[in-house]
Amino acid sequence: MARLIISFVPFLLAGLVSAIASPWSHSRPGMRQIDAVSHEVFHKTNGTKLPPLNTTYYFDQLIDHDNPSLGTFKQRYWLSYQYYEPGGPIVLMNGGEGDASSLIGYLTNLTMVGYTAEQLRGAAVLLEHRFFGESNPYPDLSVKSFCVHTIEQAINDHEYFVKNVQLPMLGGDHVSAPNEAAWILFGGSYSGALTSFTMTRKPGLFAAGYASSAVVQAISDYWAYYEPIREYLAPNCTADIEAVVNYMDGVLTSGNASAIKSLKDSFGLGAVEHNDDFAWIFANVPQSWQSYALSIPGGPMFEFCDAMEVKDGKVSGPNGWGLDHALAAWIDYYNSTYFAGLCGSTPLSSCFSSYDTQDPSWSNTTVNNWIRSWNWLTCTQFGFWHDGAPADRPSLVSRLITPAYFERQCKNNFPEAFSSPPVTFLDAMDVNKQYGGWNTTVERVVFLNGRRDPWREATVAADGTTNPGSELQPHLLGDGYHTGDTIIAEGLANPSVRAAQQQALQYIGKWLADWKPSS
Ligand SMILES: *[C@@H]1O[C@H](CO)[C@@H](O)[C@H](O)[C@H]1NC(C)=O
Ligand SMILES: *[C@@H]1O[C@H](CO)[C@@H](O)[C@H](O)[C@H]1NC(C)=O
Ligand SMILES: *[C@@H]1O[C@H](CO)[C@@H](O)[C@H](O)[C@H]1NC(C)=O
Ligand SMILES: *[C@@H]1O[C@H](CO)[C@@H](O)[C@H](O)[C@H]1NC(C)=O
Ligand SMILES: *[C@@H]1O[C@H](CO)[C@@H](O)[C@H](O)[C@H]1NC(C)=O
Ligand SMILES: *[C@@H]1O[C@H](CO)[C@@H](O)[C@H](O)[C@H]1NC(C)=O
Ligand SMILES: *[C@@H]1O[C@H](CO)[C@@H](O)[C@H](O)[C@H]1NC(C)=O
Ligand SMILES: *[C@@H]1O[C@H](CO)[C@@H](O)[C@H](O)[C@H]1NC(C)=O
Repeated sequence: MARLIISFVPFLLAGLVSAIASPWSHSRPGMRQIDAVSHEVFHKTNGTKLPPLNTTYYFDQLIDHDNPSLGTFKQRYWLSYQYYEPGGPIVLMNGGEGDASSLIGYLTNLTMVGYTAEQLRGAAVLLEHRFFGESNPYPDLSVKSFCVHTIEQAINDHEYFVKNVQLPMLGGDHVSAPNEAAWILFGGSYSGALTSFTMTRKPGLFAAGYASSAVVQAISDYWAYYEPIREYLAPNCTADIEAVVNYMDGVLTSGNASAIKSLKDSFGLGAVEHNDDFAWIFANVPQSWQSYALSIPGGPMFEFCDAMEVKDGKVSGPNGWGLDHALAAWIDYYNSTYFAGLCGSTPLSSCFSSYDTQDPSWSNTTVNNWIRSWNWLTCTQFGFWHDGAPADRPSLVSRLITPAYFERQCKNNFPEAFSSPPVTFLDAMDVNKQYGGWNTTVERVVFLNGRRDPWREATVAADGTTNPGSELQPHLLGDGYHTGDTIIAEGLANPSVRAAQQQALQYIGKWLADWKPSS
């Protein structure tokens, strides 16, 4: 029996550990990690033992779709045909912004990818995104190599793959799209957006699409990330976080050097030179909400709120305890729990600094470094800066955190690309124009979203959208978290997620029934 491992980051730690290398790495949307412990598989109907799920296959992918003469690179993929019967569809999932080998569990029926394959007697394929893991067009992650690291190249990878791949299974040499087999494109988070974008750009290539928590709208000033958190976090905890953030912002912008110094000193952070770096350290608390396991009752996000809201055995009212206790409790929690061992032997001043342009992690171009590869996409195309809310709205993070805070770091990371001054960092509006953003008119894609997902405002389920969806572009909204609907167990635990999964499968089944080979 395969067992689910949903790996999650220890409370607040991941944020800060990666914060040391890259303070905005929390802007990664990210698929939920899942791994099937057993890679051993048998064909469902005839019982034949099949190659283990972790068998890696390599596809000769074009380095540059605009210039095929540059040749090919090895793009990794994984395959399960345990449910496949001749004539069945091929379910393709792009692993998005990470080493896809950690997502092999998605090939099993513990997820909607494998489950859909099982229900439709199809095969399931996991494809690694270019410039992540071991699928690199060039041997490094330099700016020069990144000239072919664009959304459009990734879309074209999909097309070239489904038209040319010969899957190593019986009949796998006759599954090209759209003539020989029906392909269904799956994705979650960034790869969910890629699902929508690909089917927008390549109509007719895929028979159906499943886009989970698809961040289709590029937004640079993405303060709305925190809105679903404000909506669902316990009101007392929200109120106290906001009170502390407002207070700190008041001090940090006061110009009163001694007041600023004593605020930093109370956390033992007097050596952190820049006020925005200091402010960013506190953004790790609300950001930890994104990791599902942290944001469910009993999870460590609740541990933080308990530390704030329970005083001498008494719980605060809905408005929290107010600034004095909240600040003291936050200092105490950080001092006693959060900072412990966090920076190792690195002095706090450099541990939390985003200003040191000589820090070697900025210029490390060794492959398989998802942070650098993802930063490139955020710096050039998406933005998604998790910054403070506008002044007239409550904010869970400091208003010292602005798009400029991140864009300066784009320069640290990719100085060759973003020479100063002034530079336009990204073309979010262009991405939205090209691929439709919230207003996408893509057909035969079902969008699934979770109300509690901080990425919701970048999806078609955003509060600000006017796109109502349609029978050919259904918008399904459950009560879940980021990409939770891709996991079968999450549907079993949450009826609204389950309902969305079942409806999605119905739509996909219907579109597949409509589908005819196009030749
Ligand atoms: C596949 O996983 C099995 C354990 O399930 C392991 O023994 C084997 O070495 C792995 N193979 C590869 C190619 O990673
Ligand atoms: C069982 O089905 C698989 C997948 O189609 C095929 O590779 C295998 O040869 C079949 N085995 C037998 C004994 O029919
Ligand atoms: C998932 O597939 C396994 C075989 O690999 C099967 O035993 C199990 O019943 C399937 N689960 C569901 C929910 O269909
Ligand atoms: C600066 O802040 C300190 C408290 O840390 C306060 O005593 C002092 O009066 C402030 N100075 C001014 C000019 O407001
Ligand atoms: C928190 O710890 C630092 C040193 O690690 C110390 O300077 C500071 O006084 C502590 N704050 C409180 C309120 O105990
Ligand atoms: C207050 O905070 C506690 C501890 O986190 C939580 O259990 C409780 O539900 C919260 N109550 C309100 C009204 O927000
Ligand atoms: C660069 O990154 C690679 C992979 O992420 C890592 O193994 C290596 O230690 C790093 N090198 C330096 C000098 O930091
Ligand atoms: C989406 O449509 C709305 C009107 O429905 C419009 O105001 C908005 O500008 C459009 N957005 C984009 C990115 O085209």
